[in-house]
Amino acid sequence: MIKVHDKYPLLKHNTFGIEATAERFVEFSSAEALVGFLKEGFSGKSLVIGGGSNLLFAGDFAGTIFHSRIMGIEVLGESENDVLVRVGSGVNWDEFVGYCVEQGWHGLENLSLIPGEVGASAVQNVGAYGVEAGDLIVKVEAIEIDGASPCVFTNADCEYAYRHSIFKGAEKEKYIITHVTFRLKKHAGFKLSYGNLKEKVDELGGATLANVRKAVCEIRSAKLPDPAEIGSAGSFFMNPVVAAAVAARLKEEYPAMPQYPLACGDVKLSAGWMIEQCGWKDTPHEHVGVYRHQALVVINRGGAKGGDVIAFAAAVVASVKEKFGVELNMEVNVIE
Ligand code: EPU
Repeated sequence: MIKVHDKYPLLKHNTFGIEATAERFVEFSSAEALVGFLKEGFSGKSLVIGGGSNLLFAGDFAGTIFHSRIMGIEVLGESENDVLVRVGSGVNWDEFVGYCVEQGWHGLENLSLIPGEVGASAVQNVGAYGVEAGDLIVKVEAIEIDGASPCVFTNADCEYAYRHSIFKGAEKEKYIITHVTFRLKKHAGFKLSYGNLKEKVDELGGATLANVRKAVCEIRSAKLPDPAEIGSAGSFFMNPVVAAAVAARLKEEYPAMPQYPLACGDVKLSAGWMIEQCGWKDTPHEHVGVYRHQALVVINRGGAKGGDVIAFAAAVVASVKEKFGVELNMEVNVIE
């Protein structure tokens, strides 16, 4: 089924709570319906959105927005050790994670409570507490917008890296994802080394799938705003990666600075810590600020327009550059 809406309000489709309108908004509930629509041809720019939890509308969108309503969670095969699960791109991410935990399938529990939908998880390579979606994805099915042709991407084709995939890079806005297939484990192999996760899990009675999910939900709820209450798009910036020599110089000047050495020799810095050090928790703009428990999250304090958020973000970037000499890049996609 295809539903086409003209002059469609986007308020319910972006967690930042920005009022904007799309010239056309297309919802599809199967790959076949989408192919049928694309074969008729359309002109102008296009955008694919999921739960709208990682984007910022700079203004009205003068083009066609596609949103998947493809549902369903299907087991393609299983062995003694693992299970292959094919999921519709319109399935809510956290409902999918919850379902996996109920089934006793391991792998995604650290990614509990991330807002958004399954299709977007394969684009953004969502990650938290030491796990990234790309670690578990084996296949992505998509439709090429130009040719209306179905395509399959293996994990290697997707070129997953920190908050990155081919769908954000070279192939940006060329494909619409319809299904994602994950390989999940049937036996325990918990990853609890990030921050205070192990401590929280122990408090709950030890490492089980349900306890890890609960611990992650509790940590996230304490640090990150609930999109239903405060408009935001989660982490607004990416954590910057710098050369080891730069990190060493910064550590000398700022001994408390959190640093995470990477296997390649470079060092990941904490953007949230640097933003807090620049004083942004105490100096919001009129409509925009950072969240009091996590400065990496830019929030809509009420009535913000896309331009207000962009101006605020530019001021944050400039202050971090001036104090630490480090360039912050946006995690959030700004839609012009
Ligand atoms: N910190 C501060 N002040 C702040 C924020 C952080 O001092 O305002 C410090 C923390 O105390 C800690 C360090 O910075 O020492 C790292 O903070 P945290 O563990 O909260 O993680 P993060 O690096 O800020 C990343 C992801 C989050 C993810 C967490 C946990 C990115 C851009 N963000 O945040 O992802 O939940 O790690 O894995 O990589 C998202 O993408 O929307 C998101 C929430």
